[in-house]
Amino acid sequence: MAISIPKGTHDIIANEARGYDYIEEVCANIATVYGFDPLRTPIFEATELFSRGVGESSDIVSKEMYTFLDKGNRSITLRPEGTAGIVRSIITNKLHAQADLPLKYYYTGPMFRYERPQLGRFRQFHQFGVESIGVNSIFEDIEVILLGYEILRNLGFENITLKINSLGDSMSRANYKSALQTYFKDKVGDMCEDCKHRYETNPLRILDCKVPFDQALTVDAPKMKQFLSESAQKDFDIVLEKLDTFEIPYELDDHLVRGLDYYSGVIFEFSYITSEGKDYGALGGGGHYDRLVKELGGPALEGVGFAFGIERLYSVMRDENMIEEKLVTDDVHIMSIGDEARTDAIDLGEALRMMGLRVILNYEDKTLKSLFKRAERSQAKFAVIIGEEEVKAEVLKVKNLQTEEQEDVAYQDAVNHIVGLFKQHHHDQECGCGHDHDHECECGGDCK
Ligand code: HAM
Repeated sequence: MAISIPKGTHDIIANEARGYDYIEEVCANIATVYGFDPLRTPIFEATELFSRGVGESSDIVSKEMYTFLDKGNRSITLRPEGTAGIVRSIITNKLHAQADLPLKYYYTGPMFRYERPQLGRFRQFHQFGVESIGVNSIFEDIEVILLGYEILRNLGFENITLKINSLGDSMSRANYKSALQTYFKDKVGDMCEDCKHRYETNPLRILDCKVPFDQALTVDAPKMKQFLSESAQKDFDIVLEKLDTFEIPYELDDHLVRGLDYYSGVIFEFSYITSEGKDYGALGGGGHYDRLVKELGGPALEGVGFAFGIERLYSVMRDENMIEEKLVTDDVHIMSIGDEARTDAIDLGEALRMMGLRVILNYEDKTLKSLFKRAERSQAKFAVIIGEEEVKAEVLKVKNLQTEEQEDVAYQDAVNHIVGLFKQHHHDQECGCGHDHDHECECGGDCK
């Protein structure tokens, strides 16, 4: 019997994998412009890193971690997120003592959460994230939000919703937590088991509950903004003002608390709803954290960061046709009939590949019709046919599979001719200058 793929995981095949690569490349390029450097941490870490870092009251630690004992009896966990690992790495390598602050790193790779698989939710998924650590100005928070927005803009996203809230400093949060406990005191008995637990460990998370009955009870709950200290409110105002300056639309969301325990201050999430109202959920989220580095054994440095879910970004981009042109299709299919034609075909194929074209050589003993079908299936742009007649005359046939135009080309001119066709093809696709390209083009592009 065939072995099935583990529940909640997925294979990322061919052009889908290219889509992921493209997204990660855009993320990394923009993060680089914003002063971030790459940092790769292990996929598994000591379990304690996450229980202390992400927090015992979070869903991630309380029920979603892939934890096991290794052969040396150490408790190991597959990383459910990237922030804790980056902070651990900074502490392990004493990076904070070697470079000027803030330290700015980006990361990408698989994360693991034992969640109930559903649309956009996997047990192994991929994130691109950034962390800026050792921040001492609210403007660092603003830069990180701008970076997230800029990445989405560069990927072609329009109508992004930026939800934003402030959890305030620890004093504001402590006061708010006790106000929530007072408010939910006579309600929590009717709420879900998770909320009963959250009531004790982190009542803020009750606001995040997805159970409709519980959600209804949160509507009149006290709001965080009533408890923000003067300096937390001032910081939050600066962030919102700057978002206005940069014309980044945002939604103030009193119920945004984020599912990880390390946050304080400004927190945010990017989400996307199509014009038809399809909601893809959170594409990414993040915020400020003031205690994490210290709690993990490092100095008292504050940080801010976010992570995007690559699966979510990709599925929106695929569904909204935002990624089509980044995908690869074949340039030339060379069809040869007979052994002599095949040796000429492989020579031509290699010469064209050296010029950067994607060439598929087809050696099957099939009819031309079925070879053409295969070329069409893979959306090849040109077909080259070399049959017995062609070998004798040293002339081959080149067919444009989009226009169906076909021409004979002498062997000796074949490489230059086909490369020329591609330059023209590329130009027609990209230039959009509206000129007749039989004449000197004035578009300023690299078209001739
Ligand atoms: P998070 O909100 O838990 O934050 O995850 C960030 C993003 O990862 C989500 O918005 C979503 O797009 C994606 N994601 C999360 N879980 C899944 C899943 N099961 N399947 C598919 N995609 C998923 C963090 O992880 C924080 N470390 C972000 C951060 C960085 N905060 C500060 N610095």
